[in-house]
Amino acid sequence: MAEKIRVLLSEKEVDARISAIGEQISRDYAGRQVHLVCVLKGGSFFMCELAKRITVPVSIDFMSVSSYGGATKSSGVVKIVKDLDEPLKDKDVIVVEDIVDSGRTLSYLLELLQQRGPRSLALCTLLDKPDRRVIDVNVDYTGFEIPDKFVVGYGLDYNQRYRNLPYIGVVEID
Ligand code: IMP
Ligand code: MG
Repeated sequence: MAEKIRVLLSEKEVDARISAIGEQISRDYAGRQVHLVCVLKGGSFFMCELAKRITVPVSIDFMSVSSYGGATKSSGVVKIVKDLDEPLKDKDVIVVEDIVDSGRTLSYLLELLQQRGPRSLALCTLLDKPDRRVIDVNVDYTGFEIPDKFVVGYGLDYNQRYRNLPYIGVVEID
């Protein structure tokens, strides 16, 4: 079975949108420091590009949770694979994700992080598939709302491949 990747959002479109979100965050957090929490591995490419475009002071940390196996369907199981290095107490935290799909991962994660006493907790996602939502999640910053298609690139994978594509593409299986 071979798969083809069809471009959904070009590198130029994605870059322009990330710049706009960076500007928005810089305005919203003027006079404060933002603590970006990257959800590995998918959020890493987006977080790096976003962080470069934020003009207020930034610190970063990483965590890894798993809700997906090798396939394209959610298992519904969320577990912490790697926890944060730093406490969140009194920080202005923005969780940076690649995509909100069913919402299971993020609703679990946000609840957990909220218990650590951040001053504020926001969610920034590059992509959102609203049609697929099972659990309600409040998204503060969204790059693009996309249709219910399995996408790759900019950190998103299909069986661990294609994360390095500089654009968002739809996987089409022949
Ligand atoms: P949720 O818990 O269903 O919202 O799933 C979120 C996670 O599923 C994301 O962080 C991705 O790792 C993965 N995921 C959901 N949709 C896609 C997709 O279209 N392509 C690649 N990964 C996806
Ligand atoms: Mg992810």
